[in-house]
Amino acid sequence: MEHAATPSTPAHGTPPDAAPLRGRFLSFEGIDGAGKTTHIDALEQRWRAAGLDVVRTREPGGTALAERLRELVLHQPMDALTEALLIFAGRRDHLQQVIEPALHRGALVLCDRFTDATFAYQGAGRGFDMATLQQLEQWVQQGRQPDLTLWFDIPPAVAAERLASARQPDRFEAMDQAFFERVNAGYRARQQAEPQRFLRIDANQSVDAVARAVQAELAARGW
Ligand code: TMP
Repeated sequence: MEHAATPSTPAHGTPPDAAPLRGRFLSFEGIDGAGKTTHIDALEQRWRAAGLDVVRTREPGGTALAERLRELVLHQPMDALTEALLIFAGRRDHLQQVIEPALHRGALVLCDRFTDATFAYQGAGRGFDMATLQQLEQWVQQGRQPDLTLWFDIPPAVAAERLASARQPDRFEAMDQAFFERVNAGYRARQQAEPQRFLRIDANQSVDAVARAVQAELAARGW
């Protein structure tokens, strides 16, 4: 991953020291209970140990303001448009305060969920209008997308077993299996639309086997 700390080629004669560093943006997706946290932890440790500037963050959340919005989104009943607006409001703050500055100084950003989750949960899961989500995405992100996304794909029944002993469920974790089937279908559609960026990892295997699959996918892309 040495390229994370390497300046990009200067454009049209720009002096090298004036060119922004080019960071890397990696996001992680999957339904609740897919087990992605273990693998994000491992990658964070590995890349920190290699001396990289790693920014570990999450959505909803990632800034003081966005974490406050997260609390509302996860626990306060609200209609679907309000939910989408709050998620994108948090995302805007997160991009401006954390993600964009990190990428400009050449850091590696590891983000636990990003906009693919909005299309999967609010779009496919809740049935909210995809075109509106695309408009909000365009408005808020101005073209910024993760360079790579790892989708931890797991059947909802298996995820539900893993979550059964977990803490008090939030507004999403409390949804039924049919909801998570739709969310998974939403992720599958993202994978089919963008197979180069959005990689499927079979998360319905042992932690070691999933870790090996993650390594293989990243290595195949020079990460
Ligand atoms: P987390 O507990 O994995 O951090 O995720 C919080 C919940 O928020 C999870 O159930 C997925 C949901 N979510 C959305 O519904 N839309 C989004 O855009 C994001 C980022 C998360």
